[in-house]
Amino acid sequence: MSHSSSSRAGRHLVLVGLMGVGKSTVGRALAAQLDRPLFDSDDMIVARTGRTVREIWVDDGEATFRELETEVLRDALAADEPSVIAAAGGIVLREQNRELLKSAPADVVWLLADRDVLLDRVCNGGHRPLLDDDPAGTLARMAEERGPLYQEVADAVVSVDRRSVNDVVKAVLRCIA
Ligand code: S3P
Repeated sequence: MSHSSSSRAGRHLVLVGLMGVGKSTVGRALAAQLDRPLFDSDDMIVARTGRTVREIWVDDGEATFRELETEVLRDALAADEPSVIAAAGGIVLREQNRELLKSAPADVVWLLADRDVLLDRVCNGGHRPLLDDDPAGTLARMAEERGPLYQEVADAVVSVDRRSVNDVVKAVLRCIA
């Protein structure tokens, strides 16, 4: 884990974890509960470019998408007002982003789920072109490759398995208190 926990007042709350773990859903619930703005990195990219994640991915390639991801992460973390940030699954891939997450005034919570839970939740199409082929195999590889990266940036880990959104919210709030 990257840094010691401290009071959440004044700090952003960032959710990281694999696709399908519920970062956006849990992020929305946390933002409502804490009365904070929610920044969802995928939504920020769509708002900024006027294009869907899939369009950017297909037309410009992953590298362009990852560059946009760094931009929106930097902007979200730079906001004065403490927010909840739902960071898309691949945000930890760039070292630059991991450094941003570790150095920002932010509590980073890694949402973790069993592979079967993730597979149940992700569906074809939409904003996840990486899962177009062999979603099970891809998620398994990602879990292996990205686990250490999530761990590197996380201040806390919360399992979402067999827990309602409300329970996950409570667990997140407990571990950053
Ligand atoms: C990705 C996760 C997606 C989206 C894109 C790439 C990834 O976001 O940014 O498909 O590399 O893990 P979610 O984690 O919100 O599904």
